[in-house]
Amino acid sequence: MLLIAIDRKPYNSVDLFTRMKVVTSSKAVESVVDEALVIPIFEGVKPSKDLSKDLQKALLNKDFKAEQYEVYLSYHESFKSKRVIYVSLGKEESVTLEKIRRAYHQVQKKLNSLKIKSFSLSLPKTKLKLEEVTDAILTSILLSNYRFDKYKSDDKDKGTRFSQITVLDDNPKLKNVIDHAVIVAKGANFVRDLANENARDKTSLILEDIARKTAKENKLKITVFDEKDLKRLGMNLLLAVGAGAVTPPRLIVLEYHGNPSSKDVYSFVGKGIIFDSGGLNLKPTGSIEDMRADMTGAATVLGLLRVASQLKIKANLVGVMAVCENAISNGAYKPGDIFRSYSGKTVYIGNTDAEGRLILADALSYSIKKYKPKLTVDMATLTGAAVVAVGTKISAILGNNEKAINNIISSGKKVGENFHELPLFEDYNELMKNNLADISNISSEKFGPGTITAALFLQNFVDNQPWVHLDIAGPAFISSEYHYVGPQATGVCVRTLINFLENI
Ligand code: BES
Ligand code: MN
Ligand code: ZN
Repeated sequence: MLLIAIDRKPYNSVDLFTRMKVVTSSKAVESVVDEALVIPIFEGVKPSKDLSKDLQKALLNKDFKAEQYEVYLSYHESFKSKRVIYVSLGKEESVTLEKIRRAYHQVQKKLNSLKIKSFSLSLPKTKLKLEEVTDAILTSILLSNYRFDKYKSDDKDKGTRFSQITVLDDNPKLKNVIDHAVIVAKGANFVRDLANENARDKTSLILEDIARKTAKENKLKITVFDEKDLKRLGMNLLLAVGAGAVTPPRLIVLEYHGNPSSKDVYSFVGKGIIFDSGGLNLKPTGSIEDMRADMTGAATVLGLLRVASQLKIKANLVGVMAVCENAISNGAYKPGDIFRSYSGKTVYIGNTDAEGRLILADALSYSIKKYKPKLTVDMATLTGAAVVAVGTKISAILGNNEKAINNIISSGKKVGENFHELPLFEDYNELMKNNLADISNISSEKFGPGTITAALFLQNFVDNQPWVHLDIAGPAFISSEYHYVGPQATGVCVRTLINFLENI
């Protein structure tokens, strides 16, 4: 049987940055010639003559109060720029990087509504480090401006692509900061493109091609295990989950050697379910629609290694993408089946919709056995229970290594991504006992602590090695805009984990 491609355009990443340049300039604001000049202000700004006359008047009349995140479009009489966009960062004394990111999201919206392609940024003077402020501003604008609009036919429904962003500060220190922000935002948007795409346009085989291309472009070593290799290795959980699909499972392993003088390896493992129908335990309407994004964990692994390589991060990384589709056919794995995992433990299938932990189990044991990593971090849109527990704006974090957990949480705080730790509460292991096999893939409690039991299941496959699990079921894909990320795929975790790796 063949998967018939329907109107399949070759995969084409929506690259917002192909023709975009970010430059620096020492020009004074008054002399900047551009489509727009963006000037940050603080709440309580005095209507001084530095501001345009109309803004002074608006402030005096209290028509515009410069409250946090408010933008004001103006035409400064003595400036050369075609327009001036003022943006309020809130109260000067309480400014944070996250407030700056949220403020510049409003700037991006204004730029987009005016179809502005080229603009200049005057940087705010704050108590925060200028490098971090510059990074926050660019990151916010570049993530905000992402659109998955390749299926919109009419140009007016598409977002604008920036041609040039000018940072009005030629301090050479900012050059690296700019490159860094662009690489990371591009990486996150690459993950968003993959997660948003039609499942049939990113089958395991297509994803393999994308991974090979990404590896080649970024000097990553790549090894792909096909269905025959998986059989030989005994990765029966990955094979079982993928058995109902037209395209076969793949285990894609990437390596980045950024610190040859060290033996330490950090491993990232991602759930790559191309589409999660639920299998024979079919998902109902209302739960199935966004399941093309169930490969976000694996996409994030690919994005992370790409970014790490482009930034030349000083660490040795392994990325493992466990890829297959949870589909329904005569060949599909069935409730009641028992399989022997790569680790040797047998698993009873209580529910074919608890497929993510199965493919991760094989991928985790493989990665830990082969590389003995200093730390393994897995990422997965694993449980609906995580959405119930912490919602769509927070990722659940669990694991057996408190130090790594705390470091990831604090990296998240820095970049504006939220993590909340749930306990790996050992007593709940009871809930997955099974009469026929070593463990069941579901908890015996229907409304039990699903995120915790899923993580406890995974713990059986990490051989007591340092490990952190990120359940991104909520934040990976959200239906509405959330400040500078969303709607839809958000690229969550790329920024946090890059920050984490830069601080180890
Ligand atoms: N991919 C889903 C989890 C999910 C739900 C991700 C909502 C994003 C949004 C996962 O494979 C799944 O189906 N989990 C089940 C597990 C259950 C059968 C034990 C769930 O959460 O309902
Ligand atoms: Mn599922
Ligand atoms: Zn799933």
